[in-house]
Amino acid sequence: MDHVLRLIVVQCGTVELILDFDDDITGEPWIECDRLRLQQILLNLLSNAMKFTPNGSITLAVKIEKNLDVLAKFGKEIESSENFVVLFLSVKDTGIGIDPSKKKALFKPFSQLDAGSTRKYTGTGLGLTIAQNLVHRLSKERSKIEFTSEVNEGTTFFFHLPVNLIPPVLPVAQEEERKKHSLELLSKSIFVVFISSPEIRKFFTSEIRGVNTLLRRYTDSLNETSELLKSLREEYPKCNLLCFVDTGCGSEEIILDPFVESIKSTGVDLFLITHINQRNHYHSWFTSSDFPVNIITKPFYKDHIINSCAGAMQRRKNKSASLRKRSRDGIKPIPLLAPKKAANAEGAKE
Ligand SMILES: Nc1ncnc2c1ncn2[C@@H]1O[C@H](COP(=O)(O)OP(=O)(O)OP(=O)(O)O)[C@@H](O)[C@H]1O
Ligand SMILES: [Mg+2]
Repeated sequence: MDHVLRLIVVQCGTVELILDFDDDITGEPWIECDRLRLQQILLNLLSNAMKFTPNGSITLAVKIEKNLDVLAKFGKEIESSENFVVLFLSVKDTGIGIDPSKKKALFKPFSQLDAGSTRKYTGTGLGLTIAQNLVHRLSKERSKIEFTSEVNEGTTFFFHLPVNLIPPVLPVAQEEERKKHSLELLSKSIFVVFISSPEIRKFFTSEIRGVNTLLRRYTDSLNETSELLKSLREEYPKCNLLCFVDTGCGSEEIILDPFVESIKSTGVDLFLITHINQRNHYHSWFTSSDFPVNIITKPFYKDHIINSCAGAMQRRKNKSASLRKRSRDGIKPIPLLAPKKAANAEGAKE
């Protein structure tokens, strides 16, 4: 966010930039989100606001919604009422506004409302198309950018993003307590590790040896991993199943997609082990998949694995508790958006 604001403030000139953030929002990283994509969305919206506002102000607002009823509308997105929130983001300007008759063309690629040869404003007409596309991906297609506008009064673009909060760093004593709890959780777990690199095999056989788990299995192919997970699930119906897949060994999405499909029913917690510069690549793959995948970046260490495993198991527990509670209270998940086709028909087409 700081990075985006620095870029925008430099161009601001006579226009006032107002920030309207909820108090809980800090300068530290506090949500799990693809930073580069979110930056790109805000940059595109803010730069439009700058371009089409000769004078007046631009307001960037970020609000957090924690209300359980609102969150329930996101159905399966809810993992825990403690670490799940919905962000409402908006960019409001007091600029030239948008003619209602031209609304539909707005999100189409290369469309500019003033497209004549005498046009005043520069640009390619791609900013909104890209931003819309990114919002779709970040929100797993649950959200899109919408706007309200009055000619010569101004425009507000807005969207929402369901996100998980990053837990705060705990004081040492609490951190020890959490670690103890994590180790307890792991003692009832089965590790299945799909490895081809000697480095990862060594790590799981030596470093993680000190962690007491129920069973450990190592495999050499994803097919074998999937069969093994299914048979372990049958044999141990109540155990935590944790599967680690090393993405450094050719397990690209194309292979991962059918693999994930085949193991869905086992209720396994899946961890992709990937190199830091591949993180964003796999992150976008897993945000488009509806199966929760955890990403562990190299280089990793023992506590990192323990915390990730415990976090995933805890989320699973919270999720099933929340689903149970909702079905007890008779709350049905309400999809926030119209089905994909209908949403596209309204001009949000990419
Ligand atoms: N805040 C705004 N106020 C008024 N008109 C806007 C605003 N944002 C976008 N528009 C209109 O929508 C059109 C498309 O916006 P978009 O960001 O896609 O393209 P661009 O800004 O023209 O070019 P680019 O972003 O690729 O440099 C703009 O040309 C403008 O006519
Ligand atoms: Mg633009």
